[in-house]
Amino acid sequence: MQDNSVNNETASRVDAIIERIGRHPDMLVPVLQAAQEEFKYLPQDVMMSIAQGLNIPPAKVYGVATFYAHFTLEPKGRHIIRCCDGTACHVKGSMAIMDAIRSHLNLKEGQKTTADGNFSLEIVSCLGACGLAPVMVLDEKVHGQSNSKDALEIIKSCEEK
Ligand code: FES
Repeated sequence: MQDNSVNNETASRVDAIIERIGRHPDMLVPVLQAAQEEFKYLPQDVMMSIAQGLNIPPAKVYGVATFYAHFTLEPKGRHIIRCCDGTACHVKGSMAIMDAIRSHLNLKEGQKTTADGNFSLEIVSCLGACGLAPVMVLDEKVHGQSNSKDALEIIKSCEEK
């Protein structure tokens, strides 16, 4: 984390979360969870404020936030695409679908959210619907046995809405 500044509003919102959950370094994960719920993601100033509030090094907060897949450090798009790359889906071609989606949305390596903020692409390890592999979920709607062409059509019809 490079920018150490925290604005007052962020600091007081984070402080309220810490007051509610517990001002102790052991409360880091629940505090991060609550902060993500409140801010929808974990921007740098929120993590810095948590570090100050729990009196732990910012690097520790950053380390925990990046270790767990359910924490996100960037804002999510209006539409969330979740592609499964669990074993069953991988065997049935999930990589080709993800590559096609990345290319269509112009997502660079490591980029999860489109520049216009419309879509986020998340890779998950199993959606619990292996019989429908390969599986993709768009905004909670499950699309099974899809291929690259189907996946792009689903996304395009969402773009047109
Ligand atoms: S491996 Fe994809 S749904 Fe289980």
